[in-house]
Amino acid sequence: MFLGSIACKWGILFAVKSLKKVKKRNKNHELGALVLSTSDPLLKSKLSHLAFSKWRNEKLPIGVYDPPSRPARPPKPELVSPKEIPAPKDSGMPLNAYMLHNLAHVELNAIDLAWDTVVRFSPFCEILGEGFFADFAHVADDESRHFAWCSQRLDELGFRYGDMPAHNLLWRECEKSSDDVAARLAVIPLVQEARGLDAGPRLVQKLVGFGDNKTSKIVARIADEEVAHVAVGVYWFVSVCQKMGRAPCSTFKDLLTEYKVELKGPFNYSARDEAGIPRDWYDKSSTNKHGEVTKPDTTEKLSMIYGRLASIIAMENENASLNKPAE
Ligand SMILES: [Fe+2]
Repeated sequence: MFLGSIACKWGILFAVKSLKKVKKRNKNHELGALVLSTSDPLLKSKLSHLAFSKWRNEKLPIGVYDPPSRPARPPKPELVSPKEIPAPKDSGMPLNAYMLHNLAHVELNAIDLAWDTVVRFSPFCEILGEGFFADFAHVADDESRHFAWCSQRLDELGFRYGDMPAHNLLWRECEKSSDDVAARLAVIPLVQEARGLDAGPRLVQKLVGFGDNKTSKIVARIADEEVAHVAVGVYWFVSVCQKMGRAPCSTFKDLLTEYKVELKGPFNYSARDEAGIPRDWYDKSSTNKHGEVTKPDTTEKLSMIYGRLASIIAMENENASLNKPAE
């Protein structure tokens, strides 16, 4: 009780100090760098939300800043190669907590991935436009809420983030694409986050099968919100390709080859359609033997992306609040 009280007071003191640091930062990139340099997961999540709120409410300029080479991480979880991640039966956790811990790890990385995109490409603000940074700061805010939900639910199940090892694959993909904004958009939102759309419904079903409906609802809501993040990626990838005078589909495929990124199904076509990823970008079966797109029509899909993006982001704005965990 006494130790808990000290830890709580220390946590509050630390949060207040960090909040003061947030108040002193006057540019979006500085706020993003502060989040990236914070190792405590819950504090990182809170700062991410505060940074986005301060930037949006005070209409701060983007600015220019070098991000840290890699984000600060807590001592736990230990980061290991994927082969060394324990199987569920050896993890000391029930399956629902095991799956939730994996998702919490993805969400924590997603906070850093989004802020790294904001800070790292800030020198290109004039070319990319302020909307690019606004969208990825918004994504970072969503990811901080997702991590907070996972962490809170893990706590309810009697576990903490860090109770089992995790892998560092997600950040490796981010590092690979640090020198090219088109590659970053292709590799992170259009491949990595799109994989989340594919995996989301399967994870929800497994949790329902396990009998943990509360966690399944949290995961379903997170998966729903990830659609907008992929849509943001599609929108900006198309925009960057237009600025370079290149065709988005072939550029996407060329970048995946160059960066050695593999696309693996099964794909969640409805969620990917909702996010606006044309099927011929990722699915060979949508192209016939003459190399023509069979389904759906790419031109029509691209013209629909912008309208969909606006409506998805409007829906997300209504949902966005760190203090409203999923029921
Ligand atoms: Fe997320």
